[in-house]
Amino acid sequence: MSTHPFWLAGTAATGDTEIPVVNPYTGESVGAVAVPTAEQIEQAVSAAHAVAAEAAALPAHVRADALVHISRRIGERSEEIARTITAESGKPLKWSRAEAGRAVSVFRWAAEEARRDSGELQRLDTDPGGVGRMAVVRRVPKGPVLGISPFNFPLNLVAHKVAPALAVGAPVVLKPAPATPMTALILGEIVAETELPGGMLSVLPMPNDRAASLITDERLPVISFTGGAFGWELPRLAPRKHVTLELGGNAAAVVLADADLDWAAQRVALFGNNQAGQVCIGVQRVIVEDSVHDEFVARLVERVEALGVGDPSDPATDVGPLVNEASAERVAAWIDEAVADGAELLTGGTRDGVTVAPTVLANAPADAKVVRQEVFGPVLVVQRVADTDAAFAAVNESDFGLQAGVFTRDLPTAFRAHRELEVGGVVIGDVPTFRADQMPYGGVKQSGVGKEGVRAAMTDLTYERVLVLTGIDL
Ligand code: SIN
Repeated sequence: MSTHPFWLAGTAATGDTEIPVVNPYTGESVGAVAVPTAEQIEQAVSAAHAVAAEAAALPAHVRADALVHISRRIGERSEEIARTITAESGKPLKWSRAEAGRAVSVFRWAAEEARRDSGELQRLDTDPGGVGRMAVVRRVPKGPVLGISPFNFPLNLVAHKVAPALAVGAPVVLKPAPATPMTALILGEIVAETELPGGMLSVLPMPNDRAASLITDERLPVISFTGGAFGWELPRLAPRKHVTLELGGNAAAVVLADADLDWAAQRVALFGNNQAGQVCIGVQRVIVEDSVHDEFVARLVERVEALGVGDPSDPATDVGPLVNEASAERVAAWIDEAVADGAELLTGGTRDGVTVAPTVLANAPADAKVVRQEVFGPVLVVQRVADTDAAFAAVNESDFGLQAGVFTRDLPTAFRAHRELEVGGVVIGDVPTFRADQMPYGGVKQSGVGKEGVRAAMTDLTYERVLVLTGIDL
């Protein structure tokens, strides 16, 4: 099988080593990707730095047209992209297809936002000292961006780094996850088809321990990171940089007494397990009001047991493998530990190689890893609570705070949830896993800092620069 080149400032290149890419489900080789040498990494950073001023000055139509092209080409190549995502990550094909569709929309949104962004005028004659003056406030890029993306959305979480950056005119050096670099390389190929200067995107697959020079290089003043707890090392390693961290959590779905129990059971079952639970906002904790607990849990278990588990290349499969055997072993060990400590296993709990059966636990101790930490596996932990007060307190009883879902039909309760839940987003009537790509997205507490979501990321990647005009009669 041939080695896929990486993208060095818009040009395909090969290095002196490669990373093998393996299908997690079959264990078979999917191919290999070239890894840049230290000198090529330096060339990519230097190209991003050199093009930054030109990129920031690109007319809106040039940025927007390029983004439209990327959106269209992802759409045209979506089946190939979906199959690549499935092959390298083990994500079931139906979810890979959905991911490709979302990336089409992310780039389309970025194109629209690039055209929309005009800055603002501010009158300054609001006090005597400002008479005859006016301010023009525009946002300018903070500088070239180092994007570090995870394995669980090999395309769309790359899109969330690249699209907003190109929309504001900031070059990107992207380090995709070593397990899933091939999809990001297809995106690199598509971006290289545009009229954008080559230096605006490099896609550099490499083992994580080769990324140190990128993290500390001052010519990349912004780091946008999605991944695990390692993210918290970045502000320490690069204290002068602007760092955005999207680090996941142990998302809760609350089921209150007035919920549509069938709908809630169906959604929780699916979105606790859909990518084998490897979604930062996948349901993990299921907090159920006492009066509907038993009925809901019976329906939940039934729905979980009905999920199609198996070969991710089968379009009917809901739940595929974890990304590697070590992850599956860890998830199974956490389940076993919870059960040994008194949790009740309602279904699942088994592991077959890299696949963990969708699992539902009840009565897990409050300090069990499956409750306190991010499982990132197909595990739901049901907690019984007396009422809404206790339910919301239980959601907040977490070191994380990315998104929460609340199944209720009561509007005041919806607003109360929005007021009280310590998370970056509250979804009423659905699971915390719901994400529309234009929404601000990012957590509090250990879930990270800063926001993604196209518009929010464009704000994050830029700063306000004020122009004061003097001698203006309003
Ligand atoms: C994530 O897992 O971090 C992102 C979830 C999503 O985009 O749906």
